[in-house]
Amino acid sequence: MSDLQFNATVNGRKVSRAAKPHQRLLDFIRDDLNLTGNKEGCGAGECGTCSVFVDGVLMKSCLMPVAKAQGTQIDTIESLAKTGELSVLQKAFHKAGASQCGYCIPGMVMAATAALRINPFADREEIKERLGGNICRCTGYQKIFDAVELARDVQNGRLPATALLETETADGEVIGKNVRRIDAPSKVSGRLKYAGDMTMPGMLHVQVLRSPHAHARIVSIDTSAAEAMDGVEGVITSADVPGQDGFGVFVHDQPIMARGKVRYVGEAIAAVAADDVLTAKRALAAIKIVYVALTPVFDPDEAMREGAPVVHDYAPDNVTKHIPIRVGDVTKGFAESELVVEESYSTQAIEHAYLEPEAGLSYVDHDGVVVVISPSQNITHHRHMLARIIAKPISKVRFIMSPVGGGFGGKEDMIYQGMLALLAMKTQRPVRLVFTREESIISTAKRHPSRTTLRMGLMRDGRIRALDMRMVCDGGAYGLSTEGVMRKAAILAAGPYVIPNVKVDTYGIYTNNTPSGAFRSFGALQTAFATESHLDICAERLGLDPFHIRRINAMQDGATTHTKAKLGTVSLSRALDAAEKASGWEAGVPNVRGQTRGDLARDDVRPAVSLGARFAADGKQEAAE
Ligand code: FES
Ligand code: FES
Repeated sequence: MSDLQFNATVNGRKVSRAAKPHQRLLDFIRDDLNLTGNKEGCGAGECGTCSVFVDGVLMKSCLMPVAKAQGTQIDTIESLAKTGELSVLQKAFHKAGASQCGYCIPGMVMAATAALRINPFADREEIKERLGGNICRCTGYQKIFDAVELARDVQNGRLPATALLETETADGEVIGKNVRRIDAPSKVSGRLKYAGDMTMPGMLHVQVLRSPHAHARIVSIDTSAAEAMDGVEGVITSADVPGQDGFGVFVHDQPIMARGKVRYVGEAIAAVAADDVLTAKRALAAIKIVYVALTPVFDPDEAMREGAPVVHDYAPDNVTKHIPIRVGDVTKGFAESELVVEESYSTQAIEHAYLEPEAGLSYVDHDGVVVVISPSQNITHHRHMLARIIAKPISKVRFIMSPVGGGFGGKEDMIYQGMLALLAMKTQRPVRLVFTREESIISTAKRHPSRTTLRMGLMRDGRIRALDMRMVCDGGAYGLSTEGVMRKAAILAAGPYVIPNVKVDTYGIYTNNTPSGAFRSFGALQTAFATESHLDICAERLGLDPFHIRRINAMQDGATTHTKAKLGTVSLSRALDAAEKASGWEAGVPNVRGQTRGDLARDDVRPAVSLGARFAADGKQEAAE
């Protein structure tokens, strides 16, 4: 398809350039004009990070073909602080602390600017409504709404401009004070460069070929046609790994690209570096792979059964890690108990959903040092693993941590940095890889799904005598952080309670699912959910108040945990007092639920809501709430 001569006014300047008709406006702005303030979070019109003005109307530039913007006036986030001075809204975002990782913030500022242009007196509800097309994963929306209200009031003269200034604190006096983030101006203005915003002269673009199979043997990989294509500078597979191939936070069992076998849908098999993304994609389509499909196993309990498909030869029982803990005599503890309660609990896989998809840039510097820039949450470990994988001394490997557009544990795994380093070495040119949202979801680790069976023995007064917990987690195809998650889950299984007899078994199991990995709380969530839910059920069966059953079992200062850790101070009792007070808790047995409870029906407690839609017989949507 022939190029289009694209003419527009961008941030007040005339632009006339050749563009591809299929090109998205977002790519034209970011790649051709190097205006990287607005980001790509989803590429599907859902997150709003790419929002720009086209003829004054807020548009999601990932959805707009560049041809549609022909002859228009386009304003990006860079237009708001063109002279270097932040707009009132940007200052308000800074003042209100409305930026954490910052990745969504340029889009938020654009949407907020649109909201106040449409209605300079918009109230909070209208502001919320007008920002409804934008997603933030980490700031929490309240500070963003606070910022927009502050800007509105300053713009309308209800507040003086000085309301945007920070009260200066004396040097060193920061504890207990509101201190503004020093990196906020670069975030609210879009000037902060995330890895996907970075470029280098001569840079190549990387694309990754991923497995369509959950479990298959790779018979052959033929990259010759891809390598022969114009614009392709390098193709790599596991055969290009010069050192000891394997990464993972605890067990180094995941190869940089599949080696002889694929173990989950989305696993990397080959990568291409080419002059542009489209050429790299075409080259991927030219790689021929012969597979022999193997029976997959997706359920961890099935994977533990005799005769189940084996994911890794070195783990014929599919157990990644088993953590057993034994304290006291559990059989005796249950025999002494006046009530024994057994229940099962499960939690699901959860996607981290950081707004910034994985991205990285790599090059070999003038001293032959392999440099990788990426939003890694674990650069020291990555550096050591990569040195071993590419067979270089540690002094020849450098990791630079770029701003992290949200991580939550999901960027602890070296899932793509190895491919970047290998391609930089092979092509001797800078290479960059930016995941699509789909790629990010399909190929990166999730929170460990868990199934827990919990048995607790108690006395009538609520004292716990014995705990028997068995938790089976789906670790997915590779080890990553599973060992650590199993350890922490086992360590926290008994909660902050004094339990004399404890038996805990946590199992991380290999399956052919997407690998599970680190995620905020790292195993604590799964066991805490089971233990705390179980305590509520036990309280109900014993006719006790849930606060009471926790207080009667709470560890106190100087307690020793079931893993023999000697604690100094234990704040649980104080935390329970504070929670009881703040929640307006009505003491009693937790067998009265919903709106009949006075503490849940208070004005300051939001009523339970549910989303749903109903369709009438004629197919029209009748109601939605
Ligand atoms: S809405 Fe365009 S990138 Fe998400
Ligand atoms: S600050 Fe909004 S996604 Fe991180």
